[in-house]
This record gives sequence, structure tokens and C-alpha cells, in this order.
Amino acid sequence: MVFGEGDLSSPILFVGEAPGAQEDLQSRPFVGRSGKLLERLIFEALGLNRGDVYITNVVKCRPPENRLPKPDEVRSCSGYLKDQLNFISPFLVISLGSLATKVFMGRDVQITKCHGEIVQSELALVMPIFHPAYALRRGLVAQDAIRNDLIGAKGYLQEIGVWNFE
Ligand code: URA
Repeated sequence: MVFGEGDLSSPILFVGEAPGAQEDLQSRPFVGRSGKLLERLIFEALGLNRGDVYITNVVKCRPPENRLPKPDEVRSCSGYLKDQLNFISPFLVISLGSLATKVFMGRDVQITKCHGEIVQSELALVMPIFHPAYALRRGLVAQDAIRNDLIGAKGYLQEIGVWNFE
């Protein structure tokens, strides 16, 4: 099981999809290739190390062959995610990719259209961004989009006075 890790008092909670092979081996979220990219973009855009924020996934166990988690798997893990959300109580949830965005928005959204926007859902204040695995496949334009969205998130949190990192 890959529960999540980071600073429990972070105002930002990153939520991905599900652990992959590396994550499964190390019991840590986002430690494979997409994790390395996420870590770099967090540093470049926010000036933070991964341990400064909290990082988790919708689904806590690796789906076989890295397939998309099934609705019943999402449901099985939803109690853990809600507990994490309540305990950390972040100002902003950054949902990585379509699945996490759907879970936090409560509906299907097109991430190509809504990435970088901040939306109040029933669960949380949410900013969807591209999943780093997608950005690895799509290249620099998608990586730039993630970086810009994260810069926007930092600006927003600074503006409302909850950026407590410096
Ligand atoms: N992709 C995810 O969505 N989560 C991880 O932890 C690793 C890769």
C-alpha cells in the first residue's frame, strides 16, 4: 500500500491517480519517472522540495499492469482519501490528471480545458493540472503548462495570505 507522504501541515495537497511499479516497490508516491518530473516542476515553480507539500493518490494500491483504477477501487480507497483531506485540511488540492480531477470535482471534466483554473467543489478548492505521466508523453508544452499552473497556484495562495513557506 502506498499511503502518501509529506508535510501534514502543507496548504497544498497533491493527488495523483494510483501507484506505479516503482511506487509499489518503495511504498512511496511519485518516485518513478513521472514523480521525478513532478518533483522538478514543484521545485521550479514553487521553490519547494517534495517534502514541503503532501503527495498522495486516489487509489492506494497499484492496479495490475498500471491500468486505470476501476470505480470500485476508487470507492474502496475513498475513505482513506477523505481522512487525508480532513486531517491535512489543505487550502488547495492540486489534482493530477483526469481521475483525481473527476474525484475532486464530482464530475467528468476535460483537463485540457480546465487545467490551471481554481474551482470550489463540494470536497475542496481544487486546481486540476496535467498528470506528469501525460506531460512526459506530450513533451515540453505540457510540462510548461504544469509549471505555469503551479506558478498560478503559488500566486493565488500568496494573494490570499496562506503561503506559509517563506
Ligand atoms: N502516477 C500516479 O498517479 N501516482 C504515482 O504515485 C505514480 C505515478
